[in-house]
Amino acid sequence: MSISLRGQVALVTGGSSGLGAASARALAVAGAAVVINYHAHGESAEALADEIAASGGEAIAVGADISREDQVERLFARALERFGRLDILLANSGLQKDAPITEMTLDDWNGVIGVNLTGQFLCARSAVRQFLAQAPRPGLSRARGKIIHMSSVHQSIPWAGHANYAASKGGVDLLMRSIAQEVGEHGIRVNSIAPGAIRTAINAEETADAAAERKLLELIPYGRVGEPEDVANAVVWLASDLADYMHGATLVIDGGMSLYPEFRHNG
Ligand code: BGC
Repeated sequence: MSISLRGQVALVTGGSSGLGAASARALAVAGAAVVINYHAHGESAEALADEIAASGGEAIAVGADISREDQVERLFARALERFGRLDILLANSGLQKDAPITEMTLDDWNGVIGVNLTGQFLCARSAVRQFLAQAPRPGLSRARGKIIHMSSVHQSIPWAGHANYAASKGGVDLLMRSIAQEVGEHGIRVNSIAPGAIRTAINAEETADAAAERKLLELIPYGRVGEPEDVANAVVWLASDLADYMHGATLVIDGGMSLYPEFRHNG
């Protein structure tokens, strides 16, 4: 069984690095035209768009701070201007500003909630509006549109020193499920992916050397750190009709991190 997203248009927020870049690449390999959103790293996003074009795909890089309503509106307008429609949103942008609760500033809080939660709301809202405004193409996909929220295992695992991040991801879970409940009747499919520890810049410290990685592996029963492709493969599957009956659910991709690993040697 092979997956083809040919003829579909995907928008990936935070697509210049990490999970977003790997997912943009995988969506393009599956045949989708890709809008790669970036905030700070225009050169990497442009380089990825060039790489996709060089291998026969279609992609553009578009800058936008997705915590800002006007910039999100411009991002979607640019995507439509270039590709004429939208079929898949991967709301992926996310960041951490870690601090003990006594030290956490309002800026740390607002910065994380702004991108990780408000940004996902703004992008999902624009995507739903676009899915409803455009003509459905049932020949290309059973769903009228698909939204994939990038959440985290921390949508359910509390995380000391990261209250802002865990709260944002807990919020993403109910945001996703509420939107799914609301728009399912229009044929719009909405789901989340909850990655565990993946080898990206966000985990640079935890994977910096063998000792750090050994410590991280204590939390991962399957015994390896995830690779961005582990998540990207799931994004492609979720966006495809193979996942057509998956709606309002979270796919956990964490090597077993959510299995209470401390209990594996009898507690
Ligand atoms: C965080 C990573 C962390 C992982 C598991 C992710 O959501 O971004 O930094 O390693 O959760 O704790």
